[in-house]
Amino acid sequence: MTKTILRALAGEVLPTPPIWMMRQAGRYLPEYRATRAEAGDFLSLCYNPELAAEVTLQPIHRYGFDAAILFADILLLPQALGLDLWFATGEGPRMSTVTTEAEFDKLGQGDMIHATLSPIYETIRILRRELPSETTLIGFAGAPWTVATYMIAGRGTKDQGPAHGLKAENRPVFEKIIERLTETTIEYLSAQVEAGAEVVKLFDSWAGSLKGEDFTRYALEPARIITQELKARHPGLPVILFPRQAGQGYIGFHEATGADCVAVDDSVTPEWAAANVQVSGCVQGNLASSHMVTGGDALVAETRRVVKAFSNGPHIFNLGHGITPDADPENVQRMIDTVRAGV
Ligand code: CP3
Repeated sequence: MTKTILRALAGEVLPTPPIWMMRQAGRYLPEYRATRAEAGDFLSLCYNPELAAEVTLQPIHRYGFDAAILFADILLLPQALGLDLWFATGEGPRMSTVTTEAEFDKLGQGDMIHATLSPIYETIRILRRELPSETTLIGFAGAPWTVATYMIAGRGTKDQGPAHGLKAENRPVFEKIIERLTETTIEYLSAQVEAGAEVVKLFDSWAGSLKGEDFTRYALEPARIITQELKARHPGLPVILFPRQAGQGYIGFHEATGADCVAVDDSVTPEWAAANVQVSGCVQGNLASSHMVTGGDALVAETRRVVKAFSNGPHIFNLGHGITPDADPENVQRMIDTVRAGV
């Protein structure tokens, strides 16, 4: 096993950490914007295997990242369950909503999702042929809670208020949505693995708004079920979980879920994450993505700080959240050079 990402996921401490970046194929790259224009719009790009593979490869060709992440979106699964999805320019995702028993009953389930999602599996097959032999291919899905927040609100929200509202007012329907997403996420990720994904990652971008028992029931427990079932079906499959802004909830998350790696955001310091999370296994993170906009000496100093803080255990270098469209591609190169130079 030579791929550096797989070695880190297996617990090995490498001389310099392998590196990739959340949203590495995205609007900060001119070549991405050109391919998206060719596809027409973002969703057409997601469902066009040739072009989706092309944008997945762009940051690999430009920077030589150690991992490629499949180009797709976490909201394709609810679309495959029958919801309408569209992206209003400048406003982010919009979706038809599910807040009642009757609306829940109209959702698809099980094998039905593959009819819509088969182009995604084709993208993965193309990538396995075209990626350099040292590059690991990561498949992904949204975690049930994060995906549910969009299905319930019909859009992104600052505080996930509508989802918290449904949880308070109609817990049975809320829990049915979480369960349906848990089951279908297993089918979706399992199909990604069969198509050639070597690692899977679950994005729980809004985990931080679940507190106390809710965090255990709706972030940790679905992540545990998905991780365990995928590992039962695909022995040895490495799983990365990202319960963003979990804070204290990061502690013990590896053990409680069976994850090989826990990704941490930059609301915690790398020193804290090394002492409290990396003690349980591989961590991924956590340079603030704002450094990709601001650059300069602070970018180099903070990159070194993250590398150093995690240097005594298994680590995959990444940002604390996705790179933003206003980032400067040269700052990305500077971060990579700093990581690979070691500390
Ligand atoms: O990381 C990668 O490069 C792989 C592809 C990927 C995308 N979205 C492409 C994308 C991944 C892993 C995601 C995950 C995703 N999508 C999450 C979880 C991670 C996170 O960032 O918190 C969430 C919450 C979504 C839902 C989503 N998709 C939102 C809220 C938006 C709008 C915000 C924005 O950046 O425009 C998207 C659109 C989206 N997904 C874009 C990309 C490249 C931008 C679309 C465009 O080209 O206009």
